[in-house]
Amino acid sequence: MSVSGKKILIAVSGGIAGYKIHFLIRDFVKKGAEVQVIMTPDAENFVTKLSLSTLSKKPVYSDFYSDNGTWNSHVEMALWADVMIVTPCTANTLSKMVHGMCDNLVIATYMSAKCPVFIAPAMDLDMYAHPSTKKNLELAESFGHIIIPAENGELASGLIGQGRMAEPATIFNTVEHYLSSDIQSRSLEGKTVLITAGPTYEAIDPVRFIGNHSSGKMGFSLAEEASKRGAKVILISGPSFQIINDPNIELYKVTSAKEMLAKVFEFYESVDIGIASAAVADYAPKEVAKEKIKKNDENLTIELVKNPDILKTMGEKKTHQFLVGFALETQNEEENAKGKLEKKNLDMIVLNSLRDEGAGFKNDTNKIKIFTKTEKKEFNLKSKDEVAKDILNFVEAQLLK
Ligand SMILES: Cc1cc2nc3c(=O)[nH]c(=O)nc-3n(C[C@H](O)[C@H](O)[C@H](O)COP(=O)(O)O)c2cc1C
Repeated sequence: MSVSGKKILIAVSGGIAGYKIHFLIRDFVKKGAEVQVIMTPDAENFVTKLSLSTLSKKPVYSDFYSDNGTWNSHVEMALWADVMIVTPCTANTLSKMVHGMCDNLVIATYMSAKCPVFIAPAMDLDMYAHPSTKKNLELAESFGHIIIPAENGELASGLIGQGRMAEPATIFNTVEHYLSSDIQSRSLEGKTVLITAGPTYEAIDPVRFIGNHSSGKMGFSLAEEASKRGAKVILISGPSFQIINDPNIELYKVTSAKEMLAKVFEFYESVDIGIASAAVADYAPKEVAKEKIKKNDENLTIELVKNPDILKTMGEKKTHQFLVGFALETQNEEENAKGKLEKKNLDMIVLNSLRDEGAGFKNDTNKIKIFTKTEKKEFNLKSKDEVAKDILNFVEAQLLK
């Protein structure tokens, strides 16, 4: 029974579906889980602390401060939890969560949590369909949280549509399934993984640069997946709009290839696995103009010089690290990828081809082939989060050999 002995932190916000939480608590307690309930001040209008604490067998908190002059530690509760479930999650609480509006105990606890976070939204149908709710749910998902979508049916307002909080049994089953699935396996516990991501920008003058279309998404997905598996993750990213909300991931932002190289070698010695998914510019302007270059002449020639080859240097300096490179090719894909594997002293290379629709830069999906010196494996087009799982599964299988 996978929830037995697990520490479940249930955060209740002020929605009419709060009455269903009693059943959810009862299910977890019955299956041997420890349940701690916290609530927003507004949720007290919908459910009583007495009923929730009776079922959870623990005091229920809604305020930072206790009457006796002590405080209720959001940090302690957050670190205690194996999973946090925000349910029902109002439009208001969802918005505060994704924008860091930390003005109550629930949000402060959420922002201190390192565990997986489940969100079961509940709203009237127009609130649920509102673009801000949709955007906020997408943001929450991008943080790696698991959304348990609202269901269709009759709403408290009398309207019929999507917005009803998922049934307690659905929430319970989702969490139970998660806890028993291999997503939870801490297979990289004790390992340090260094990942490079995104493009590099090579300055031409104070306002212009040479760059590329890399979004950084693949590297960020790899970082999140490695962290879920218990690794300590060092993520070194060139300019990118990706965001991360995982305290196990140390994010270092750099701009140019030279900066990325320097940052990589601050850590390289101590890492177990290096994954170079960044699209590093091969060349940089020989000289960076101090002032903005004016539009005077008909032609402008910029002399480019070779950038340091970060991956090759990682290969040369490899002692114990398992080193993974990426190849984005437009022609002779396999040949080029295998050549890179050899030349750069890699243990594994991930090939994506710009010829495959939905693969490579910018897309949220990718279609990859993995090569080692002796193996080749082909994968279907998948989301980059799923691709990250395939890559790390492959790495782990190699480490066991
Ligand atoms: C009777 C009633 C029912 C409500 N139900 C919901 C709901 O299901 N979902 C929601 O997002 N807001 C609902 N609200 C509005 C929230 O209670 C309100 O936005 C509040 O500020 C939420 O605070 P909290 O997120 O801090 O708990 C309801 C309000 C009332 C008066």
